[in-house]
Amino acid sequence: MIRSLDRARILDDVDTVGNEDRSRSLLGRFVLGTVALGVATVGYAAGVERRRWTLRTAELPVLTAGAPPLRILHISDLHMLPGQESKQRWVAALDRLEPDLVVNTGDNLAHPRAVPSVLRALGPLLQRPGVFVFGSNDYYAPKPKNPARYLMPKGRKKRIHGRRLPWRDLRAALIEYGWLDLTHVRRTLTIGEERVFAAGVDDPHLRRDRYSDISGRAPTGPVLRLGLTHSPEPRVLDPFAADGYDLVLAGHTHGGQLRVPGLGALVTNCEIDRSRARGVSRWGADMWLHVSAGLGTSPYAPVRFACPPEATLLTLLPRGARVPKQRRRAARRRAPSDVR
Ligand SMILES: [Fe+2]
Repeated sequence: MIRSLDRARILDDVDTVGNEDRSRSLLGRFVLGTVALGVATVGYAAGVERRRWTLRTAELPVLTAGAPPLRILHISDLHMLPGQESKQRWVAALDRLEPDLVVNTGDNLAHPRAVPSVLRALGPLLQRPGVFVFGSNDYYAPKPKNPARYLMPKGRKKRIHGRRLPWRDLRAALIEYGWLDLTHVRRTLTIGEERVFAAGVDDPHLRRDRYSDISGRAPTGPVLRLGLTHSPEPRVLDPFAADGYDLVLAGHTHGGQLRVPGLGALVTNCEIDRSRARGVSRWGADMWLHVSAGLGTSPYAPVRFACPPEATLLTLLPRGARVPKQRRRAARRRAPSDVR
């Protein structure tokens, strides 16, 4: 009896040890699997998606009735480093799209010696009509930041600036090519046969915006009233809408940069809601907003997930033109096949 009880206890002990071993090995596999998945995701986000150059297209009914279509190529947030040659080649090849107007909404630089690389990227596009405003990463170099700060309430964030960047050199070069700096400027441009009214503000993210410098009703004669801002802050979008602008273009958000499939952007790094972190949306009854997810990242956070680097070709049509919803929503399209 004693013997059989002992055997039962021993068998019981062996069983417990076996279960513990199995649990430990399952836990080990789970931890290993999670780590492997994490490493693979970061590897993909840093090594693949960050260079998955993507052209988005959208059609928007924003022009005066009867106006012919107008094609705007929207480029933003290049965050250029001198060695980023595939980005430079891809952006330069966008010239084949033959846009009527190129709009650059800032954050071009990530290095003090990146101005020539930005000019190489814009290359042939600089021969086309172009307008621009600058963002924080034209004025100041990036610095390492704790990623958790993007989740903090705005009031608790201390502003971190890197050293000054040569934005004056970039500005001078763009102007020499004929592009117009719209920083606190209102201007009517002639694009082909049509007139376009445009105005912009300095970067609201740095609180450099002075909307009062450009305030006033936008003229109704031109076929389009276009506003530019680097960061799409509501305090700037509201007066643009009140002054009768048809469309505002912005960048800055990087589309959230790390998006959760099915959920979208987790942060916008400004005061607009997450649903507008990338693409086309309405702002008020009559104004449209397009936010570009941009083409770069800070060199200290070189990852993108479910949010590839992008430029957008916007085809503007007369108000009242029938544009199916899916064509208004900026659709991802393959870039010209010879662009790598
Ligand atoms: Fe940016």
